[in-house]
Amino acid sequence: GRAAVLARIDELVRLVPDYPQPGVLFRDITPLLADGEAFAAVIDQLAASVGGPVDLVAGMEARGFLLAAPLAVALGAGVIPVRKAGKLPGPTVVEHYQLEYGEASVEVHPFTVPEGSRVLVVDDVLATGGTAAATVRLIESCGAHVVGLSFLVELDGLAGRQQLGEHPIDVLVHVP
Ligand code: PRP
Repeated sequence: GRAAVLARIDELVRLVPDYPQPGVLFRDITPLLADGEAFAAVIDQLAASVGGPVDLVAGMEARGFLLAAPLAVALGAGVIPVRKAGKLPGPTVVEHYQLEYGEASVEVHPFTVPEGSRVLVVDDVLATGGTAAATVRLIESCGAHVVGLSFLVELDGLAGRQQLGEHPIDVLVHVP
């Protein structure tokens, strides 16, 4: 059940102090990915929480890709790789967002995101919400609908969900 999956995430997500910068507590999901049974249970749990039909699952580079692909297969949906700047041959649509220092951007091929399609957005961690909010704008700029967002972990203290409007958000594990 869900409680058992959440306990496995707690066990298998490694906490790394001061990475990638001093003062940041990094959540390393590689041990979870490397455990076939736990990884499958996580994907099953994310799939079970989806409320309605999904045409496409959008995952953010790079760790979001690892969740989006199996989740899409589980849901019978396609995958949209939401890429960082300059990785797609194009033509692309682009959304920019603020980082603590500087700016970043995400891109998709709009011809893979049909108008009116129902898109689930997936990533490993919801932190400041900048990446997810830019991804929502990107999908909506293609004329598609974001039917929800799913995350393994939400860092509640950063209040990232305030950037995500009224979209349904599924989070497996909350950390302060
Ligand atoms: C991490 C994480 C999310 C994003 C969350 O990705 O996988 O995509 O940051 O942060 P935010 O809510 O503050 O935007 P990162 O940029 O480290 O890229 P990676 O997956 O390639 O390591």
